[in-house]
Amino acid sequence: MIHKSINSFPFTLIIRNRRALDRGFIPEQLVDREAELEALRRIMRPMLRERLPSHAFVYGGVGVGKTTLVRFFMRDVEGVRKIYHSCLWARSSKDIILAILKEAGRKIPSLRGYSRGEMMALVARASRGVHSLLVLDEANALLGEAMEFLEALLREQPGGGFSIILVSLNPPDQVLSRPLLSVLGYASSVQLRPYDAKTLREILRQRAELSLVPGTWDEGLLELIAESAASYGDARLAIEILQRAAERAEALGRGSVEPEDVREAMAKINPFLTESKLSELPDGELMALLAVARALRGRAVASLRQVYEEYQGLAEEGLAEAASYSTIHRRILSLAEAGILSVRKVGERRKGVRLLVTIMDFPATRLEELIMQRLKSEA
Ligand SMILES: Nc1ncnc2c1ncn2[C@@H]1O[C@H](COP(=O)(O)OP(=O)(O)OP(=O)(O)O)[C@@H](O)[C@H]1O
Ligand SMILES: [Mg+2]
Repeated sequence: MIHKSINSFPFTLIIRNRRALDRGFIPEQLVDREAELEALRRIMRPMLRERLPSHAFVYGGVGVGKTTLVRFFMRDVEGVRKIYHSCLWARSSKDIILAILKEAGRKIPSLRGYSRGEMMALVARASRGVHSLLVLDEANALLGEAMEFLEALLREQPGGGFSIILVSLNPPDQVLSRPLLSVLGYASSVQLRPYDAKTLREILRQRAELSLVPGTWDEGLLELIAESAASYGDARLAIEILQRAAERAEALGRGSVEPEDVREAMAKINPFLTESKLSELPDGELMALLAVARALRGRAVASLRQVYEEYQGLAEEGLAEAASYSTIHRRILSLAEAGILSVRKVGERRKGVRLLVTIMDFPATRLEELIMQRLKSEA
C-alpha cells in the first residue's frame, strides 16, 4: 500500500528550502517595518528623484533587521551605482575606496603609497558621470581616519557625487566624529527598535512557511521561540533557533518539530555568539578565536601569551597560518570590539601590563567544537 511505504520512508523531510533559513536571506516582504522603510525613502528622496546627495543613518540593536532593511531599500533603487560594504573587518579608508573601485569595475591591487589626494582622484575618475550610493554596514567599526575620508568625500562630492547610508548598532553621536556628523546632518537618522514577541512570531511564520514542509510545525512552536527571543528583540536569534530545532527534528527522523527541539536548540545557542556571527569572521580572526577557546580549556581567563602559544600550536598543526604576537594581539582586540570576547588589562605600566582574555556565557569547549565543525565543512 502506498501510504504505508510513505510512512516507512527512512528519513522524514522537514526542511524544504534551506536557503530561506540562511543568514543573508532577504524575504520578499518585510514584516512590520513599513514606517522605517518609508522614513528611509523620504530621507533619500533627493537622491531617488534627482541624483542629489542624500544621507541617512540607520541604527538599532543586534538582529533588529538593519542590514535587511537597507538591502531591501537598495534593491529598488535604480539609476545610481550601488556599493555595499561591511566595515566590521575592513574598516579603513582604503577598504572603502577599494569597495568603490571594485563596484566601478576597476582593479587596483593595492593602495600602498597613494596620498589622500591621489586616492580621491581615483575615486573621482571611477565615478565620473554616475551618482553613487555608498552603504556602509557595521559603521560603528569605522576607524577615525576612515571618517575623515568620508567627510572629505561628502564635502568634495567627486565624480557624479555620493550619497551615503551608514548602518550601525549605536546612534550617530556615539559613533561618528563631530565633523562627519555635521556634514551628514543630525536629522537624517532612522532608529530600528527591538522586535516584540508578536512581531518575532510573524517573522518566524514567514520563514517557516518559506522553509519548512507544511504540517511539520505549528503556531505553539513559533510562540515558544518568539517568547524566548523577545528579551533580545533579535530576529536573527529567533530564526537561528527555528533552523536548529528543525535540523534536530530532521536528524532524529521525526515528522514534525517539537517544543523539545526548540529547547535543545536554545540551550546550544548563545545570543551573543551565534553561528552566523562566527561564519562572518575572516580566517585570521577565526583561528585566533580557536586559540582562545583552547587556551580557556579548564581556565576562567587566559593571558595573551597563553593564547599566542595555543596559536603557535595551531600553526604547527597546519590549521592556521603563522602569525606574529602583535598580529594575534590585534586580532584579539578586534574580536573584543565585535563583542565576541572580553579583554581586561592588568598590572601597572612600570611593571608591564598584561592582557587577559575571556569569553563570557559560552563554554569554550562548545566554541572549539563549533569552529572545528566550520573548518571541516569548508575543507
Ligand atoms: N522585518 C523583518 N521581516 C522579515 N525578516 C526579518 C525582518 N527583520 C529581520 N529579519 C530577518 O532577521 C535576520 C536578522 O536581520 P538582519 O541581519 O538584517 O539584522 P541586523 O540588525 O543587521 O543584525 P546585526 O546587528 O547582527 O548586523 C535576517 O535573517 C533577516 O532576514
Ligand atoms: Mg547587520
